[in-house]
Amino acid sequence: MSFRQQPEPISRPNRCQLFGPGSRTSLFSKMAVSAADVINLDLEDSVAPSDKDQARKNVIAATHDVEWGNKTLSVRINSLDTPYWYRDVVDLLEQASNRLDQIMIPKVGCAADIYAVDALVTAIEAAKNRPKPISLEVIIESAAGISHVEEIASSSQRLVAISLGAADFAASMGMQTTGIGGTQENYYMLSGGQKYWSDPWHWAQVAIVAACRSNGLLPVDGPFGDFSDEEGFRAQARRSATLGMVGKWAIHPKQIGLSNEIFTPSKEAVDEAREILAAMEQAKTNGEGATVFKGRLVDIASIKQAEVIVQQFEMINSA
Ligand code: COA
Ligand code: MG
Repeated sequence: MSFRQQPEPISRPNRCQLFGPGSRTSLFSKMAVSAADVINLDLEDSVAPSDKDQARKNVIAATHDVEWGNKTLSVRINSLDTPYWYRDVVDLLEQASNRLDQIMIPKVGCAADIYAVDALVTAIEAAKNRPKPISLEVIIESAAGISHVEEIASSSQRLVAISLGAADFAASMGMQTTGIGGTQENYYMLSGGQKYWSDPWHWAQVAIVAACRSNGLLPVDGPFGDFSDEEGFRAQARRSATLGMVGKWAIHPKQIGLSNEIFTPSKEAVDEAREILAAMEQAKTNGEGATVFKGRLVDIASIKQAEVIVQQFEMINSA
């Protein structure tokens, strides 16, 4: 490890972030009893401009009236290029109950975007004597956002998580697709006349994971648009989990169970990780730094890899 230590992210399950439009109040109680770890009430792109004021009122009321259990409660505000965002922040901080945990800022392009919201949140928290500091999460979903992901990741003490927003990201990058995440038909290699599909979201995900991990934030995969395609969702989520992401958004209740399934380490993975830890304990007793486990090398780095899986599993189970 470098002299600069890697900070630990906030310790809470974040396997599934369930979204619902702030204008559809009939969904709120269903969201509250769902199995999602995080609830994102939306004021942004799932709310029509004519509904923005009413949606804000609905969401504020829901922080008082709906029983959200032990879920993380987050509200997605409008982006900083709109006339709505300041009113979102002011009204939420002045009027929402202390049940509100988090604000999600979409379409961030640079650290100053987070600074602006942080300054407003900090002033209103002090003015209103709010007892609980609001945390922030952001979405990287533009060319500017991914280009400045490192400065964004280190922009604020309040920041706890970064999501990749595939649809706006694709649009901003000029990608030739209308798909929201998942396999893209035209992104393939050709060998011996066979098509081998590749993953166009991969590099953006890795950039986000690296920026998050070096700053103690949770990296999260955003939406998968085709909510009728369960295997497609699983494939996307498995790739994200393999890369180090801790969870994924659900834009329909069908996706909640899938997300929880993929982002909870499986019994097989946990059992094997525990066996590796036991094998390394034995190696240590024998004065060895490396040993053979099921015909392959394990060494001191393997302890850290195995601990990632075991600790994630135990944290989820103790929540
Ligand atoms: N949270 C909780 N429950 C939801 C839900 C959500 N996001 N979306 C739908 N449901 C409920 C419906 O009310 C319905 O409940 P019922 O069985 O009691 O009648 C059930 O799940 C099945 O819903 P369905 O009819 O398949 O969906 P729909 O046509 O009502 O809504 C969407 C489909 C995509 C419009 C809706 O899921 C939605 O708005 N998703 C979130 C969009 C969003 O927030 N986008 C921003 C982030 S990308
Ligand atoms: Mg978006």
